[in-house]
Amino acid sequence: MKGIILAGGEGTRLRPMTLVTSKQLLPVYDQPMIFYPLKTLLQAGITEVLIIVAPDRAGDYLRVLGSGKEWNAKFTYEIQDKPGGLAEAFVIGADFIDDQSVTLVLGDNIFLGGDAEIRDAITSFKTGGRIFAKQVPDPERFGVIEFDSSGKVISIEEKPPRPKSNFASIGLYVYDNRVISIARKLKPSARGELEITDLHKAYLAAGELDVRVFTGEWLDTGTPDSLLAAGNMIAQSRSSGAKPSA
Ligand code: G1P
Repeated sequence: MKGIILAGGEGTRLRPMTLVTSKQLLPVYDQPMIFYPLKTLLQAGITEVLIIVAPDRAGDYLRVLGSGKEWNAKFTYEIQDKPGGLAEAFVIGADFIDDQSVTLVLGDNIFLGGDAEIRDAITSFKTGGRIFAKQVPDPERFGVIEFDSSGKVISIEEKPPRPKSNFASIGLYVYDNRVISIARKLKPSARGELEITDLHKAYLAAGELDVRVFTGEWLDTGTPDSLLAAGNMIAQSRSSGAKPSA
């Protein structure tokens, strides 16, 4: 199983802080943001990690993360020239993935207290696509997953104005090697991006999308308020002795 961390994008909602460096390198309590999703992958046993970054920030990532040796891992870097969508990670990362399965984690997503379920989702993975859902108060901002009464997935829609449920698709995804060919065939959406939700629709249509409800905390870091809240929550979890993947 290979790992990819997508840390591209311009971080426009966090300007002027993102004029200093990439959003995913900004501090969340006492660590650069990307350390959290990176540790999520490493604690699941993934040691080969591709980090996809924006062109003007590549030097910052190399300086902070380096070869991976200090983490007992091997880091590879690729550039995402412009924000082309999450699913573009599999086009950019095709050579790195080679003939393996892959876990993608978003560089600005933080998972607290869910190490065991993430590790299990990754280590027990065989084929298809496996994603996580989490109930949120504002599902219209996310990929929204609809379940039937037996818990079977019926639909998944990207940022629907009228969400069919309050289950959001969160930023950790596990796929078999077919993800490369599926991603290569995707067409950009109205916002000009290759949508991860379109990938999930393809796996769902093939009857091979497994959705697990995540019971840990999932922290958003996209705005100044949510970034501050995430930092406070991590500080609290440290002082209460809870064990985040950080
Ligand atoms: C992306 C995905 C969305 C998912 C979200 C998780 O949204 O498109 O399906 O729910 O990440 O953070 P975006 O970051 O593009 O707004």
